[in-house]
Amino acid sequence: MNAIDTAPGGLPPQEVSLDVLREKYAKGLEAGILDVRRRVARALAALEPEDRRDEFEARFLWAQEQGFVPAGRIASAAGLGLQATLINCFVQPVGDSISGNDGALPGIYTALAEAAETMRRGGGVGYDFSAIRPNGSKVHGTRSRASGPVSYMEVFDASCRTVESAGARRGAQMGVLRIDHPDIERFIAAKDAGGLTNFNISVGVTDDFMRAVESDAMFDLVHRAEPGDEDMATARRLDDGRWAYRQVRARELWDRIIASTYDHAEPGVLFIDRMNAENNLWYAERLHATNPCGEQPLPAYGCCDLGSVNLTAFVDDPFGAQPSFDFERMCEVAAVGVRMLDLVLDATEWPLPQQAAESQAKRRVGLGFLGLGSALVMLGLRYDSDEGRAMAARIAETLRDAAYATSVALAREKGPFPLFDADRYLDGQFVGRLPDWLREAIRMYGIRNSHLLSIAPTGTISLAFADNASNGIEPPYSWTYQRKKRMADGSMRSYDVEDHAWRLYRQMGYDVDALPPAFVTALEMRAIEHLRMVQAVQPFVDTAISKTVNVPEDYPFADFRDLYSQAWHAGLKGLATYRPNTVLGSVLSTSSAA
Ligand code: CDP
Repeated sequence: MNAIDTAPGGLPPQEVSLDVLREKYAKGLEAGILDVRRRVARALAALEPEDRRDEFEARFLWAQEQGFVPAGRIASAAGLGLQATLINCFVQPVGDSISGNDGALPGIYTALAEAAETMRRGGGVGYDFSAIRPNGSKVHGTRSRASGPVSYMEVFDASCRTVESAGARRGAQMGVLRIDHPDIERFIAAKDAGGLTNFNISVGVTDDFMRAVESDAMFDLVHRAEPGDEDMATARRLDDGRWAYRQVRARELWDRIIASTYDHAEPGVLFIDRMNAENNLWYAERLHATNPCGEQPLPAYGCCDLGSVNLTAFVDDPFGAQPSFDFERMCEVAAVGVRMLDLVLDATEWPLPQQAAESQAKRRVGLGFLGLGSALVMLGLRYDSDEGRAMAARIAETLRDAAYATSVALAREKGPFPLFDADRYLDGQFVGRLPDWLREAIRMYGIRNSHLLSIAPTGTISLAFADNASNGIEPPYSWTYQRKKRMADGSMRSYDVEDHAWRLYRQMGYDVDALPPAFVTALEMRAIEHLRMVQAVQPFVDTAISKTVNVPEDYPFADFRDLYSQAWHAGLKGLATYRPNTVLGSVLSTSSAA
């Protein structure tokens, strides 16, 4: 048995990587990375035709050794016969009744039970709470007053804290409220006093609202439920039967969101009209929320299985006179990765039958990358430069084409996803930007997966499987830092962690006290440079990108607000920022020994 696998680049593994691997991924007799990869390869190859299983198992192992990293749920549960899901992300609906169902939506406590089941089996859940009637509105059946979405979110929060998630981690949730919900101010402030700790929260912002901000107009807060006495004085019945409870000045509401985010890093903002406009399945579903970290806008009961290619694995001659990126090998690895993710949809357990049905009809997968920041350093390109962005865009575009071409080939072999409709699919905004050869192939053969791409945070898998290459699309956080990790007994332990590129640079005999200019970290670049990288990559990603725009503590509020309007004008699907603040602290802190 291989007691210790070497990390990529022939480096000895870091202690934190080994501990994360052992705690979350290596099960039973497994001792290292290779064992986990073998288990994943075998479990997925078992779904291929019998006479080709050995061949596929070998290819799936090869792809992982070459840099394909399946997401955490896959690595932790594939092939173990557990009830755990192999899918990281879900979105679940919540209706406006206490029990039973509210039309097609589950009532609040039905939704709560569904959420507990998904989390117990290891999935993170996002919800749009906007259907729940506002605080103070009428509840005719009992002649009482409604308590509103935020108070019910507290129940979901407590449930998440209580239900232990499969795979040694805490549950993660995303709570969304539409900008036009009458309880929006309550929602924006919901975390200010330290509440809802098991939620990320985001406001679902519409284009109408953003236009109202720009023109300094008034904006209606609306709901289908009848207002209570307090709001009745200002309420108007709308033509569509809903009620406009009251009007707010759009700019004031927007400033409230930005101010809360400036101080508490939340709420995030989702540009929901953009998410829907860019959706490949615009003809079959509506998107209201995302998974917990934001990289997957999903419909009700939508799910997505994730995997990433480790970009540092494709850099030839790192730090050399002429380093280069091996696009061809990345495409070969990505093609096998897409095939594996497609199989995951059939290999996984589904917490709820609705998720199984939804996924079988659409077959969403989310291939992305990790280690962009480290790879750019190894290529001698600054993350905050035009050259760095051009390389990132080229990588993303190449990955897109490889993923779509593979899915077309899979459709020829195994059939397209059931809701595929050539004319309407090809009419999609994102699909409209694909090269002609791909569009023709899709028309001729269909495509196996409705969506193919997503850039996840890769929080634990970069540590366990990629020697702490930088996360997802992020630049390296710092070359060396301390990371707090919760131990099995509940205590916290602090690890010294080193960035993969930095370690490699030192290993190759270079002087880490005199780093070349390409070594630039998240905190050393301007906030706008973070946003520009998302802008460069988003056009090639059919879902979304998990990214935190870091801003320094003394960043002016007006500039901070500008970031958000720039994000909207740039057509991004959302924005999450982080400004160091006393309320939150952080799991990462830069080491003074750096
Ligand atoms: O590294 P790993 O593949 O485990 O996950 P990630 O890339 O950091 O996060 C991907 C997604 O997994 C998140 O957006 C969440 O939907 C979900 N997740 C979760 O449910 N619970 C966590 N503690 C972390 C992530």
